[in-house]
Amino acid sequence: MTLKLSRRSDIPMFRALDILREANARAQKGEDIKRLGAGLPCFGVPQPVLDYAKDVIDRDPRQTYTEALGMTLVRDRIALYYRDRYGINFNYERVAITAGSSGGLSMAFIAAFDPGDKIGICTPTYPPYRNIINTLGLIPVEIQTSAETDYQPTAALLEKCGEKLDGLVICSPSNPSGTMLSESELNKICQWCDANGVRLISDEAYHNITYAEPAQTAAKFTDNAIVLNTFSKYFAMTGWRLGWMVLPPEMTDRIKKLSESYFVSPTTISQHLAYKVFDHMDVLDGYVAYYKKNLDILKAELPKAGFKKLSNVKGAFYIYADIHNLTNDSEEFCRRMLGEARVSMTPGLDFDVARGHTTVRICFADDTNDIIEACRRLQDWQK
Ligand SMILES: Cc1ncc(COP(=O)(O)O)c(C=O)c1O
Repeated sequence: MTLKLSRRSDIPMFRALDILREANARAQKGEDIKRLGAGLPCFGVPQPVLDYAKDVIDRDPRQTYTEALGMTLVRDRIALYYRDRYGINFNYERVAITAGSSGGLSMAFIAAFDPGDKIGICTPTYPPYRNIINTLGLIPVEIQTSAETDYQPTAALLEKCGEKLDGLVICSPSNPSGTMLSESELNKICQWCDANGVRLISDEAYHNITYAEPAQTAAKFTDNAIVLNTFSKYFAMTGWRLGWMVLPPEMTDRIKKLSESYFVSPTTISQHLAYKVFDHMDVLDGYVAYYKKNLDILKAELPKAGFKKLSNVKGAFYIYADIHNLTNDSEEFCRRMLGEARVSMTPGLDFDVARGHTTVRICFADDTNDIIEACRRLQDWQK
């Protein structure tokens, strides 16, 4: 007898990870793949931070659970970071440490919404928003953005969306487009959400990886927003699986209870690393300068391979390219690129189910020499 699998877990596969698997399989067979696919920094956490963590383990090999919302020391360090970085003051009690920002994302949706609630997501979008919304019985409302608004929502676009939203997810700098909301538009969106009773979830995973203006946090403009952040991107700690949230004061207790039941506590050793990594932001800023160099190379070289319409990247490490001149099947295009040019990219369908068949996402967090070689291969391939 075949037993049932839930309908709600039947979500689309994440093509970025699928391409990563295929690129890894090819690399294992000895193929030299240049990776513009999955969004991983090519750097790790600075060495002194690792040394500190080793020392912590030597002193206390047991590494037991921490409090469900994380170590007070680390929550306090994060609150201090918001004071220094954004000029805003709040108590550490509003900070929750999470199992990556992915852990925070699930808890945020559960704490803020009930099944049937309508949540606005702005396409092209980070795909897990849609998947988590669907698995929780919430209703995604896709707000289509375009190159005209830098693939970001505006308060005017939200006003026209035609649905009574219960929640809205924004992401600036954006995955997949690297574009950003201006400070004034972010403020307008925060005010629009407050005025319309919409709970804002602001995914700030790529803050500090910016190439012009620094990104602003929604926490500066409203206490009602759930702010998500991560140690995976700027802090280059992907595998340590740690993130955090800045919560509306009345939500902290709910998140604490959810965290107790879902995770017990965030990973202890990773919290030690997180505490120390704030002392090495000069090294992390060096990583950002490196990504900027990669971006400049791609902006110069990609058009020569036919990738002519690139998003207006101001942060993160992604370019979203409109390639309708090259294909109307981005998935097949990316598979062929991997097989023939040995370069990986992510098909736009991951990010935009309706329009992503003519777009791709290009990640530039990899080694500069590999980026140069990838451009050369793409130019040859498109000759
Ligand atoms: C926009 C965005 N939010 C959240 C995440 C999840 O990051 P993590 O769970 O590693 O903190 C990612 C990862 O790629 C992302 O791009």
